[in-house]
Amino acid sequence: MHGKRLSRRAALWRAERAKALLSQAGAGCCPTRDKGSDPDRGKGLRPMAHLSDEVRRPYAAQSRSARDFTSNSPGNSIRYIMATASKKTSPRTPKPQDAIALLKADHKKVSGLFEEFQSSRSAAKKKKLVDQICMELTVHTEIEEEIFYPAVKAALKDKELVPEANVEHASIKDLIAQVKGVEPDGEMYNARVKVMSEFVKHHVKEEQNEMFPKAKKTTLDMLELGARMAARKAELLAAGG
Ligand SMILES: [Fe+2]
Ligand SMILES: [Fe+2]
Repeated sequence: MHGKRLSRRAALWRAERAKALLSQAGAGCCPTRDKGSDPDRGKGLRPMAHLSDEVRRPYAAQSRSARDFTSNSPGNSIRYIMATASKKTSPRTPKPQDAIALLKADHKKVSGLFEEFQSSRSAAKKKKLVDQICMELTVHTEIEEEIFYPAVKAALKDKELVPEANVEHASIKDLIAQVKGVEPDGEMYNARVKVMSEFVKHHVKEEQNEMFPKAKKTTLDMLELGARMAARKAELLAAGG
């Protein structure tokens, strides 16, 4: 009887003990305290928590802008990559142009302006185009006469190509004087511009087919010549042609 009482007591003690252990275990895995007031909450997810605000601020801003770009759509991700990549590119420096490339580019530009004139109907547009053609031709003939022709004449010991080119320049200048600043007045104006375009085309053909190939075969430093011509051209354009 005594033994039975002891074992009942022991059973009661074991039941109480088990209840207490279960209660402790429950408190450890499922806290019931207020999460908002927990000072340690989320510390494991804040890798910069140990840094001062001053150090953290720029990184936080960068991370925010990345989030703004990438959070909404795949297109935003691409824009973010392009935006950040474009900031790293440095401005390009203009490639030095050799003398012949520079002159050929001028020829092409003027030829395009003449074509534009032929397809224009408005008098105001025609006048604007002719004024631009005259300015381009004036600057172009000037840098050829001042820099390119004398260099080529000396290098080739030329007595024919350069003098003929100079005579043709004089004719081009006469034609320029007939149309520069003049109001388009119909047939005669159009005829003068047409003749000027054909004369310029003929002159350009001779330069590109005869003078330039011969000049290329000389020891002339075309890059140095080109640099001097580009500088002079910029000067003349700044002065209004
Ligand atoms: Fe010329
Ligand atoms: Fe030319």
